[in-house]
Parts: sequence; C-alpha cells; structure tokens
Amino acid sequence: MKLVTTVSQVRQQVRAWHDEGLTVALVPTMGWFHEGHLSLMRTAGHQADRVVVSLFVNPIQFGEGEDLDSYPRDLERDSEMAKTVGVDVLYSPTVDEMYPAGFQSMVRVRDLSMGLCGGSRPGHFDGVCTVVCKLFNQVEPDKAFFGEKDYQQLAIIRRMVIDLDMDVEVIGCPIVREESGLAMSSRNVHLRDEDQDASLSLMRGIDHGRKRVAAAGGSIDAAELVGEIEKQIETTPGCRVDYVRIVDCDSLVDVKTADKNSRLILAVKVADRVRLIDNGSLV
Ligand code: PAF
Repeated sequence: MKLVTTVSQVRQQVRAWHDEGLTVALVPTMGWFHEGHLSLMRTAGHQADRVVVSLFVNPIQFGEGEDLDSYPRDLERDSEMAKTVGVDVLYSPTVDEMYPAGFQSMVRVRDLSMGLCGGSRPGHFDGVCTVVCKLFNQVEPDKAFFGEKDYQQLAIIRRMVIDLDMDVEVIGCPIVREESGLAMSSRNVHLRDEDQDASLSLMRGIDHGRKRVAAAGGSIDAAELVGEIEKQIETTPGCRVDYVRIVDCDSLVDVKTADKNSRLILAVKVADRVRLIDNGSLV
C-alpha cells in the first residue's frame, strides 16, 4: 500500500491505472478506522480493480464547539488496518493541501441539507459536499463507497452527483454494528463503560419501530410512533433526543404513515458528550 499526501500524487497514480484500463474505487473517510470502514474497503475491492482510501478530518464540516479537536486521529494505526484489507493507496492530504490559501468555494445541496443532522449542525453538509466534490475531482474514481449509517449524507451526495453531472457511481453500504447492536462509529471511542445502555437506545428505538409496524400489519401512524420512540429514549438515563423522525427513504421528507418506504432516522446525545446517529428501515 502506498501512502500519498498530495493532489498531484493521487491524481497521477489514478490516471496511470485508468491508462491501463483499470477501474478505481474511492472510499472517503475521516480515519480512526473500525470494522465499518474496513467493510467499505473490502466491498470497494470486490467492485473495482484498485482502491483508494482518503483519510482527511475535514475542518469545514465541523461547527463551532463541535469535536474537531478531539476527533480521534492515528495515521500509523489506520495505515496498518487499511493494509490488511488490500487498499492500494491511502491518500492523506494536509489541511493546507486540501484548502490552500485563498480557498473560498462551497458546494451546497439545498433542501436535503436543511433538516435532520443539517438542522442540528448548520453548514455541516456544505462542508461534506465541498470536500467530497474536491475528492472526486482530485481522485477521479469510477465508484465511491459510503456507509448507510450516515443516511442523510448518502442521500445528499447522491443528489450532488446527479445535479452536478459528476461521472462517479455512488454506492451505499449497509451499517455495520457491534454485537450489542450499536452502529460502529469513530465517535464510539468517546463512550465510557457506563454509557453502554444509553448508547443502545438508538437501536432499541429502531427495534421498537419495527415491532410496532409488524404488529400493525405493515403500516402505522408515523407521528404516534415517533412519540413512543422519543419517550423511550428520553426516559433512558443519560440520553437526550436530538431528533427522531420517520421520513420517505428517498426524499427524506417526513411521512404521515410509517411503512416499507420509510426510514426511521435518529440522533441522540449520550451523557451530554457524544452525539450518536443511527437509522433503519421499518419493515
Ligand atoms: O462520513 C465521513 O466520514 C465524512 O463525512 C466524509 C464523507 C469522509 C467527508 O469528510
């Protein structure tokens, strides 16, 4: 595996592969790899001839007071892990390489970025879209792989690719969970042993939703179900609901009836320190 840090290095390598007729996958990440990242890398390796993983903690997608400074970072650890799943290039640019002096352009996917995590984290998705757009331009991949844990992010990136005629196939991959049911996330490193029960409140909410929809024969009033899940989470010690919503799985607009076309999406602050997100279908 090669470690590269500049736009010209990664571009030159990918162009050489394309000249040989090889297909190239990109897995964009912010590092501190876990099994969720590794599964994206493995899937990318099955679906393309070469795999580039970008590792960049993108400052412009963090708001004031968010966890940019405490976001876990360890390039050596991540390099070793990426090697084990056959990654060809780890692309880890510096902030100055990504955003040189004078940088001032932003990419915004308007409506899809407004609610859910975009409501709690204003400007977050503009930062995500801008860096992903830049990564696509720098790496020029044939395919790009994203986890479904960040369901809204995936929908926004798909929209951006369509709207801006980007020549890359976006592939969403299923959420990878700990045995306990907790969705894997780099931020889980901030959870303490005593946060375990609170951190499982998201998965319990999804399970409750699925059971209620099944018991009701496949569809149920969405507002009623949201209320039940909010109550269940709020009464779990150490949990504060950021949002619980049932939305259309494509448009992410709130639905009146929860059924096979809807997605339960939720964000919970655990112990007032760690903000966790999760989502799932209800059927
Ligand atoms: O999902 C992430 O890790 C980030 O939002 C991404 C897509 C790598 C952009 O910084």
